Amino acid sequence: MGKGLLLLHGPNLNLLGTRQPEVYGSMTLADINRAVEQHIDAYDVQFRAAQSNHEGVLIDCLHEAREWADGVVFNPGAYTHTSIALRDAITAIELPVIEVHLSNVHGREAFRHKSLLAGVCLGAIAGFGWHSYILAVDALLHYWDLLRD
Ligand code: DQA
Repeated sequence: MGKGLLLLHGPNLNLLGTRQPEVYGSMTLADINRAVEQHIDAYDVQFRAAQSNHEGVLIDCLHEAREWADGVVFNPGAYTHTSIALRDAITAIELPVIEVHLSNVHGREAFRHKSLLAGVCLGAIAGFGWHSYILAVDALLHYWDLLRD
């Protein structure tokens, strides 16, 4: 049976490619979405990507994912460090969510060391640039038993 994957991007990630490339790399959001889509091409996975700068819209996307998705790869941007509402949404939808960061948040400012979301996610991956997303998707494929070893 096919699986559904939501790739969800939070605030300021629409600016990838031009936003602090020394921190976040030179790939645009469209490049990253395309790389993920190509990566899962060999699997029976329905893929949708969304980005919003608004906390409530991200919550709506998570709620809607219940209708069709089996897992979420989520870069919550700065809301990682602030949003109890997103934490509650992740808990409520009862889907496996993997938190992703391009940068190694633990090597940056102290306020980025704390994630309010990681504890309710299946796991978290940070620090590998756009490849963090590929690692997160592989983790989900493993979780779904579509990818072994
Ligand atoms: C980020 C890390 C966050 O601390 C930051 O606010 C972002 C991007 C990352 O992908 O490295 O917007 O989530």
